[in-house]
Amino acid sequence: MCGIVGYLGSQSAAQILIKGLHQLEYRGYDSAGIVLNTGQGKGFNLFKAKGKVANLEAAIPDEVMYQDHVTVSGIGHTRWATHGEPSVANAHPHVSMSGDVVLVHNGIIENYKELKDQLMDRGYTFQSQTDTEVLCNLIDLYYQQHGHDLRMAVMQALNKAIGAYAIVVMEQQDHAHVICARKASPLVIGIGEGNEEFFIGSDATPIVSYTHKVIYLDDEQVADVRLNHEVEILNLDQTLAQVDVKEVDLDISALTKGGFPHFMIKEIFDQPNCIENCMRGRLVHLEDGSYDVKLSALQNFKAKLIRARHVIIVACGTSWHAGLIGKQLIEEMCRIRVEVEYASEFRYRNPVIEKDDVVIAISQSGETADTLAAIQLAKEQGALVFGIVNGVGSSIARAADTGIYIHVGPEIGVASTKAFTGQVTVLTLLALALGRALGTLSEEKFQRTCHELMQIPAKMGEVLKQNEAICQLSAHFTYARNFLYLGRGYNYPVALEGALKLKEISYIHAEGYPAAEMKHGPIALVDEEMPIVFLATHHELYHKIISNMQEVQSRKGRILAIVTQGDEEISHIAQEVIEVPETLQALEPLLSVLPMQLLAYHVAVMKGLNVDMPRNLAKSVTVE
Ligand code: G6P
Repeated sequence: MCGIVGYLGSQSAAQILIKGLHQLEYRGYDSAGIVLNTGQGKGFNLFKAKGKVANLEAAIPDEVMYQDHVTVSGIGHTRWATHGEPSVANAHPHVSMSGDVVLVHNGIIENYKELKDQLMDRGYTFQSQTDTEVLCNLIDLYYQQHGHDLRMAVMQALNKAIGAYAIVVMEQQDHAHVICARKASPLVIGIGEGNEEFFIGSDATPIVSYTHKVIYLDDEQVADVRLNHEVEILNLDQTLAQVDVKEVDLDISALTKGGFPHFMIKEIFDQPNCIENCMRGRLVHLEDGSYDVKLSALQNFKAKLIRARHVIIVACGTSWHAGLIGKQLIEEMCRIRVEVEYASEFRYRNPVIEKDDVVIAISQSGETADTLAAIQLAKEQGALVFGIVNGVGSSIARAADTGIYIHVGPEIGVASTKAFTGQVTVLTLLALALGRALGTLSEEKFQRTCHELMQIPAKMGEVLKQNEAICQLSAHFTYARNFLYLGRGYNYPVALEGALKLKEISYIHAEGYPAAEMKHGPIALVDEEMPIVFLATHHELYHKIISNMQEVQSRKGRILAIVTQGDEEISHIAQEVIEVPETLQALEPLLSVLPMQLLAYHVAVMKGLNVDMPRNLAKSVTVE
């Protein structure tokens, strides 16, 4: 999804902006641009390109790229098309018709058509199909009316705009000044030493290599950023807001590939480590050999969580699949009724939310627009909102009443991997702690589950050792046009996640189903061309899964089975078998999802596809 970077200071601005745009590439985009203002009466220096940031970089002449020691303001943007096709004309930044104002924008201005008509009546013309250019010219209109007061013009325009935005606006007449604003789309301002430099980002990624002092703008806030001055923050009604400067500590080395050919495979291999980090200080092995689960988020809201009669999990994509596993964990260990909702459906459905309900919002990025809106709805109706988020300081983390970070580090590959296992781990810890507090989980089962959970990172390592074998067997499947993934119980959401991974990055159509549902439709698709992945680990439904497998075998389907180490029965039925170590049924997804991720990865690589940035997808979906 779109990315924003901005700079104010006297270092080589073009280089800083381009580096920042590269760091934001993981969000997914289809065009990019930067604009610079050196204030030498030369107007804005604007560069845009379709496609990759590298194309933009190639379009910038050396004298601009390496211009140093000149006070300059600059903004850059990676665009993911919403209004109008990916093109140079539609790429940001957008300059107003007068040439006085320029801006970049993340989000969507919903009433842009109406505003555009009004502006056209006043003689404004447009170069692009975007809602952003409309906002730019609206600001320009007020800018001309208010004697070139940019701050006032931005506030007046935003009071007219309906929708979501993070914007950074510059004016030609003052090259040491920018205005930023946000509503439902994040924006961060980094403060350099002595206010001599400022760095702006749609997240902290392009900022942290320069400064750790940041301001996260809140909704409907406008920041007036002027070189050598303290940042001023205003609300849209023009009242002054408090400026809250925070310290962020994001490890930028975690954003590099660490010797792997793609971020996705690095992130798959990161998982044993990530899960250890996720459990650190939370799953505690006591001196007497027993285990405890310590979650401060739960401590602070214990009474409310224990009182909950009903839990609603809201999420999108992979996080929604983690939610389906969370439902089984919480229902099994806590005996509380749990519903799992697509955030996009929940927010528009007038759902029944009671005061004592708990809404768990799961999100890797912490910025997904639909999940954020679902939280707001839940809060309005008095529910406690518990966030399970990776993005530290993200909008969802800040909007939730309480919650737990999954602490798996930045996830760059668009197809989510380590965030999924991190989310499932946190949900397991939550169910364990809550079940124990409620008395719905026996001490024996609590201890056994904790003990097994502690072994998961090492067992993940064992699964990952089969990477080479999975790579080889993946070669048999690149021909496929359709795939079926089947699982039962805790492995049913893993089947959904396996199918999602494959379609996201290999563009092969894939569907996940509960294995027993196969005979109610999908079995009609089975023939010798159709690969079917069975999640057939050793648990109480094992023999039923074998029957499902035989139904496929007799129709000549090509079976790839994920089985428990040492399984002898299934190797006679399935053409390909991948083993995972034995664990408790409730923890199986943490192991069985790894072959799903590796299979999708290798098939996509063999098909020569861009696994880290698949077509049409965005890492962080900040529009609904
Ligand atoms: C996008 C990503 C998915 C992700 C989903 C939800 O579609 O490509 O990988 O699962 O958004 O994102 P979230 O950040 O809320 O988990």
